[in-house]
Amino acid sequence: MIRLFVNVDHVATIREARKTVEPSPLKAALLAEKAGAQGITIHLREDRRHIQDDDVRIIREGINTPLNLEMAPTEEMVKLALEIKPYQVSLVPEKRQEITTEGGLDVCSQEEALTEIGKRMHDGGILFSLFIDPDAKQVAASKRIKADSIEINTGKYTELELAEEIKLELERIQASAGRAAEIGLKVFAGHGLNYENVKFIAAIPEIEELNIGHFIVGQAVYGGMENAVTEMIRSIKEGRGNQL
Ligand code: PXP
Repeated sequence: MIRLFVNVDHVATIREARKTVEPSPLKAALLAEKAGAQGITIHLREDRRHIQDDDVRIIREGINTPLNLEMAPTEEMVKLALEIKPYQVSLVPEKRQEITTEGGLDVCSQEEALTEIGKRMHDGGILFSLFIDPDAKQVAASKRIKADSIEINTGKYTELELAEEIKLELERIQASAGRAAEIGLKVFAGHGLNYENVKFIAAIPEIEELNIGHFIVGQAVYGGMENAVTEMIRSIKEGRGNQL
């Protein structure tokens, strides 16, 4: 069975639009668990545009499934992870101006620094994962630096439009997943997945875990809109019947 980790970052994005307390990413995480999610993912970005430091603590304490913390390989984030101790840390590259994570981590060019971070994570009892593009060199480097797992970036696959290009990218993902599993890395995948494109990724047998966020939060808005408006109309009617 392939595990689904639901990323609740964009529940925090809506909350941060007003800098208030609703909607709560923890409440959304608990509902995701109720529906069968096997884990929760959050990305604490350097600019704190959605998830805040307190969210990491509150979600870590409040959920019943493992917490996967995505973060950039910086000293600030490493210290925070060692303090909060999520089940797993996934290192991602981060650029301040990007709208979302734009590509995989270049493991090859920073093996020494990443090895050190991995060692500190392992000493703290935290699993250590790397978000990489489907590239044999990055897979081999991930093994050299003793990562427990890789998360293959499916972003490019989800953005391509031509069938031939999609097929080629899927083959790259398959090959990287196969190679990684062969050399003893656990294989995860994510980015840009939706109800349709996830099917071809879920068909790759080596992939054990998927991280999906934006699409699920978007669908939740549609699914929840009717209930929320019905509730509001009920409250308005109830209020109209009351005397001040
Ligand atoms: N994996 C990583 C490393 C990510 O940075 C993200 C986005 O935060 C995801 C998976 C989930 O992508 P999406 O929100 O497009 O489902």
